[in-house]
Amino acid sequence: MTIPSPKPLHPSLGAEIEGLDLRRTLSAADRQAVAAALAEHIVLVFRNQSFTPAEYLAACSQLGAPMAQHYSQHNMPDQPMIGRIWHRNGQRPAELWHTDHTNRERPPKATILYGVEIPPQGGDTSFANMRAAWDGLDAEEQQRLSKLRTVNRIDRHLAAQTLDEDLEKYDIPVVHPMMRTHPEHGSKALYFHISKAHYIEGMTPEDSQGLMQDLLDRTIRDDNVYRHSWRQGDMVVCDNRAAMHRAHGDYDRQHPRTLWRIILEGDRPA
Ligand SMILES: [Fe+2]
Repeated sequence: MTIPSPKPLHPSLGAEIEGLDLRRTLSAADRQAVAAALAEHIVLVFRNQSFTPAEYLAACSQLGAPMAQHYSQHNMPDQPMIGRIWHRNGQRPAELWHTDHTNRERPPKATILYGVEIPPQGGDTSFANMRAAWDGLDAEEQQRLSKLRTVNRIDRHLAAQTLDEDLEKYDIPVVHPMMRTHPEHGSKALYFHISKAHYIEGMTPEDSQGLMQDLLDRTIRDDNVYRHSWRQGDMVVCDNRAAMHRAHGDYDRQHPRTLWRIILEGDRPA
């Protein structure tokens, strides 16, 4: 089998691969084609999937090695590599622009979401092309940012809701560059997590927050954002080495919104 050509969903990023049931075993060539499409398009959408938790884990494992997630209280008890994104117990959707798990030495190369329960309106997920964000900065600013490094831990505002065992494992400061080079694509991207980066080396936490917020405000615009409207059965793969994402909490909480999340092992950003 050959992977169908990805169909772009937005001029800057995002493409749909149609007609592929990911319960099937992909050949090595097909897996490579999906990896190349992901590096190129940054976000891949596969619609009309139908997975049990075990099938979802097997499908994602064809694209990389799943890694453990923190906030482990949301992981499926009998399938702990799958985290549940839901807001049943008063959790707030992650509406800030971010990339996942920067408190890990080797943050996930990809985040995969599967739409299980989708509200009738709202609850989209947006993805920003941080390669385009980087390319849009002038040479002088690129030069300055390429020397900066963030110090990452568990999100400042979520530490109180994090289990002690997760804090012990995952709240150890990890340093990452603010510019990273995609190991497969070779392109550069702006890279940070505004609430996991407690500060930028050599700067106060306040100035660090100001700089990161200013960068988000200036570099993420409609022309480099793909907004995904969920349908039940969508599987969306996001290349964290070139994207940020955010949830939209604009849905009626009387309707459930449940996504299953799997993250795949990545390289140390460089
Ligand atoms: Fe996220």
